[in-house]
Amino acid sequence: RDLHSFPTRRSSDLLQVMTSSTNHKILRKAIFPVAGLGSRFLPATKASPKEMMPVVDKPLIQYAVEEAVSAGITEMIFVTGRAKRAIADHFDKAYELEHQLEKSGKRELLEIAQGVVPKGVSCTYIRQTEALGLGHAVLTAAHLIGDEPFAVLLADDLIHCEVSALKQMAEQHNFYGSSVVAVQQVSGAAISAYGVISGVQQGDRLYLLDGIVEKPKVKDAPSDMGVTGRYIFSPQIFEHLRALKPGAGGEYQLTDAIQMLLMQEQVIAYEFHGTRYDCGSKLGLLRANIELGLEHPEIGNELRVFLKNELFQKLQ
Ligand code: UTP
Repeated sequence: RDLHSFPTRRSSDLLQVMTSSTNHKILRKAIFPVAGLGSRFLPATKASPKEMMPVVDKPLIQYAVEEAVSAGITEMIFVTGRAKRAIADHFDKAYELEHQLEKSGKRELLEIAQGVVPKGVSCTYIRQTEALGLGHAVLTAAHLIGDEPFAVLLADDLIHCEVSALKQMAEQHNFYGSSVVAVQQVSGAAISAYGVISGVQQGDRLYLLDGIVEKPKVKDAPSDMGVTGRYIFSPQIFEHLRALKPGAGGEYQLTDAIQMLLMQEQVIAYEFHGTRYDCGSKLGLLRANIELGLEHPEIGNELRVFLKNELFQKLQ
């Protein structure tokens, strides 16, 4: 790993295990900001949020909820925008559909429809009246979180791996008791589309953050480690979100609140195991569909044959 861009390690830069009881509370709640405009996907996102776009046969938001469940989270909080109904309907009981499937003996499909929200999991919806930025979206849900740690998942980042990315992060959070942001290495000019960290590497895949900046120019990027859409925060983040002023792009940036948080308490960056698909971009969504399609028990084999025998020939 090329880490030359990180500051050299100082003796005071050691990770601490935090002792505050708030930070070690069990992770139960997750916020899903789904109120963005999704303008890169117009017209698909004109009447429905981009998080409802499917990868093979599941909307992006369901992958994210399943990931949260795998990390032990039971309270899902959706920050919705204009087209909120599609998401609420997806996680609601579909009486008519279930009745039809039962009547026609389609048991497998019935189970799929009924299993969208696992037992013991609750969903709450709250409105972000204007898309003022990710920081603003997270702050909108503050009163539903209270004084405990919580996760934030951006469903348009689909992370595919054996042990879910959020579960990997929750393990770090449970051990160190501090906020954790997910990072991955980003090469070349693409780094300027990310929040970028600076910090000191501390063992395998862990960094102690000492700075974070949103969408820097390539020449100003403090490292090649970009933040991806998974976070675990201590509730102290809210006090910094409340103090935010519009940042990059005129939006209230979550990154700016993280910068303030890390000056107050320890924040960790964790380089997760797994493949991330940027499903907020057309190419990323297509890649995810192809790669997850290849693994799908129903269509995987046929897709492989199609790609090899038909598509590959056309590309020659
Ligand atoms: P993006 O930066 O991808 O913005 O948001 P966007 O508006 O959804 O998409 P484009 O760029 O116009 O195509 C990252 C995440 O933050 C949420 C989005 O729904 C997405 O999950 N978000 C963003 C909000 O919930 N509210 C906001 O005000 C901004």
